[in-house]
Amino acid sequence: MKYEKPVITKLQSGMMNKFGSSPLYARKIRTEIDSVPIAELVGKFGSPLYVFSEQKLRNRYRELYGLFQNRYPQVTFGWSYKTNYLQAICAVLHQEGAIAEVVSEMEYDKARKLGIPGNQIIFNGPHKSMPALEKAAKEGAKINIDHMDEIFDLEKVSDKLKKKIKAGMRLNMDTGIHPQWSRFGFNLESGQALDAVKRMAGAGKIVLNGLHCHIGTYILEPDAYAVEVEKMVQFANEVEEQFGFNIEYIDIGGGLPSQSKLKGTYLPPEVAIPSLDSYAEKITDALYRNLKPGDFPELILENGRAIVDEAGSMITTLFASKRLPDGRRAYITDAGVNNLFTSFWYKFNIEVDRELSGLNEPSIIYGPLCMNIDVIDEGSLLPPLERGTRLIISPIGAYNNTQWMQFIEYRPNVVLISENGTVDLIRVSESLEDIERNERLPGRLIIEVKKPEKND
Ligand SMILES: Cc1ncc(COP(=O)(O)O)c(C=O)c1O
Repeated sequence: MKYEKPVITKLQSGMMNKFGSSPLYARKIRTEIDSVPIAELVGKFGSPLYVFSEQKLRNRYRELYGLFQNRYPQVTFGWSYKTNYLQAICAVLHQEGAIAEVVSEMEYDKARKLGIPGNQIIFNGPHKSMPALEKAAKEGAKINIDHMDEIFDLEKVSDKLKKKIKAGMRLNMDTGIHPQWSRFGFNLESGQALDAVKRMAGAGKIVLNGLHCHIGTYILEPDAYAVEVEKMVQFANEVEEQFGFNIEYIDIGGGLPSQSKLKGTYLPPEVAIPSLDSYAEKITDALYRNLKPGDFPELILENGRAIVDEAGSMITTLFASKRLPDGRRAYITDAGVNNLFTSFWYKFNIEVDRELSGLNEPSIIYGPLCMNIDVIDEGSLLPPLERGTRLIISPIGAYNNTQWMQFIEYRPNVVLISENGTVDLIRVSESLEDIERNERLPGRLIIEVKKPEKND
């Protein structure tokens, strides 16, 4: 029997967590991901390690798509590249039927390189350069105009290509969600959006054929989508009647939540987050209430986090433990905010790869960076962890592989577990050569390596 140091624990009434188990003994143990042992994954691919489950990714896509497809005749999902643009992840979702949703020329080029034709790319975002706009217009992309200057730019592209260009426009509006993402698109309530339509109709170079909006991310109010849809459809009706445009698609953006926990919220995700079904119900109900009879424009959704977040986990290894001067237990792991950028906003689920004895105590988890901001978790109840313990951190599939930073450490491997259990390396860990590839050291700054003197 292993020696266990005695601990004195202050008895506190009301310690029982109202959601279940005793916080002093609860353990979250996980020894595998999709039946592949954690030890095997780390043995082959090292630590830290991003692990994606293809099965979860496909299942979540099918589940969410099904909720809308069963309720509305014309549904398209645009995969939000910025949420995770690893080629393998995008390829899985394209195989499932998603078109691409991109917000920059870089993302546009990525989608094209992956084999997605221009007419299956939604081109959003506030910064589309003239060459990018021209390329997208030539290739028939669904361009959603963000601001007045973009209208002028697209009119110039129309002159150059000597053809009218079909395009959508992004709207922003009050749906009861705050902060309102009013910096993108044209405001509806102030009349700005209608003015933009007037301009397009007057100049006659852009043919408005779609409306787009994205009200924010991790939206916990299904009713906000009902308001969004209602306002969009009413605006579509107005534009069709007044200007003769035909609105072929209503693109309501993304924003549905994943099962992650926003920092500072009390309720656990399984209680706080409405079912995906309730969003689908509100959205399609609002469509049917507001569309003209027999009119079914294409409904486009651009969900990112709701599809990919839970498919991703990070395995990290406990490198050292410490006691802070205030008595708190602290751990240092090999994955930091450089790898887990979303830890600034979300409290992850943390599981350990083994049985551990001892009482849980509030523990703080740091990453490996020599920076004070490198905190993965400010306080979770964990048993005393031994060096080498693997922590499985989830969900991390959304935004971490795009917002990650090359900072202080090399970025690690990323693997994808296929549906039959094989593990594919989908991004190789970085080397110094990768990091310095684009640097140029002026000749005058090259440090001459001195040969050692004879008597050195
Ligand atoms: C225009 C647009 N569409 C889709 C998304 C994806 O959002 P989410 O990951 O919250 O579904 C975003 C993200 O902010 C966005 O800006």
